[in-house]
Amino acid sequence: MIIRGIKACELKDTRKDKTILVSIKTDVGLFSASSPTGKSTGKHEKPAYKKSLEKDIESLNKLSDYFKEEIIEKFADLRRVEDLVDGHVGANTTFALESAVLKALAKEEKKEVWQLINPKAKKFPRFLGNIVGGAKHSESKKKPDFQEFLIIPKTSSPKKSYSTNIMTKKAAGKVLSKIDKGFKNKKNDENAWMTQLGERDILSLLEKTKLDLGLDIAASSFYKRKKYKYNNPPLDRTIPEQLDYISNLIKNYSTLSYIEDPFDEEDFESFAKLLKKHPDRLIVGDDLTVTNIKRLKKAIEKKSINAIIIKPNQCGSLLEVEQVIKLAKENDIKIVFSHRSGETSETILADLAFGFGADFFKCGIDGDARVKKLERLIEIEKSFK
Ligand code: PGA
Ligand code: ZN
Repeated sequence: MIIRGIKACELKDTRKDKTILVSIKTDVGLFSASSPTGKSTGKHEKPAYKKSLEKDIESLNKLSDYFKEEIIEKFADLRRVEDLVDGHVGANTTFALESAVLKALAKEEKKEVWQLINPKAKKFPRFLGNIVGGAKHSESKKKPDFQEFLIIPKTSSPKKSYSTNIMTKKAAGKVLSKIDKGFKNKKNDENAWMTQLGERDILSLLEKTKLDLGLDIAASSFYKRKKYKYNNPPLDRTIPEQLDYISNLIKNYSTLSYIEDPFDEEDFESFAKLLKKHPDRLIVGDDLTVTNIKRLKKAIEKKSINAIIIKPNQCGSLLEVEQVIKLAKENDIKIVFSHRSGETSETILADLAFGFGADFFKCGIDGDARVKKLERLIEIEKSFK
């Protein structure tokens, strides 16, 4: 396949913030892909743009002609794409470009995108549905200190998981309207319910669903001057107190099986202590590892995690995504593909998750941009029947 031309432009994400859309022209058509954008971003993520979105658009449009000389036949040929843009653009731009290239290549080869990664893929990831949210993703004054409360249906069928999550979310809304006096029927950035309740009340409510539960604590967002600064209720916890607190939550809520970023993004040691105490739960790195091979190596050395979030635009390079996943799997670390809080209607995340054999898929419960990706997995599931 030869890329005849590239054009980048701006697009609005679900938060109405600007992001990048990249279109490429080949002999079989025009293919576009966009990148999502995070708000609760890790300090060690690659910058979304080199200097700015506008400059990245300019740079990529200028590079357009150079692509004509490269022949792209397989996933590994993304190396040629990366060599051309390396040092010129940021992670969002690289990810959107590589996604558009894969979509074009799939069409040319008469394949699905996931088949370019692994034609024998057959495992479906379990859904992690963000049902109640707080922290950086919710704009209200009184809110949970933890960023995401997740439900995890036990089935690996995307279709069944989807309907379980939708039903459970509706029911949770009804319960919240009864027990939370400040409940306004509002949803946050990721379409999770906004509430004034604190984490223990929410967990007690969700425990009744009998589903497995998860938390994205996103602890870096409230870690300041060596203390975890809780607001709901107001309380400072030291590092050992945070470890005890999270460990007690795990002990008190037997279905709490997934805990993402329980500590600050530099604190590999506390992650390791928690994992040592609770090897039967998933201790997940997101801001800790930022889809970065060096950070993953460190997490493995320190025994910090047994699951890792994969957000392709944290590093921008799908070749690095491949490397990170390979190393994680070799070390028995579960793979969790994840959307970002600012999303677009792009669905390639579903193909990547399926192709790379992800164990979990964190992509919200409702809202168009999220549902499109969930539906893409349902469509892949149908194609196997
Ligand atoms: P972000 O948050 O997309 O705003 O970075 C999602 C997460 O922390 O998992
Ligand atoms: Zn996270």
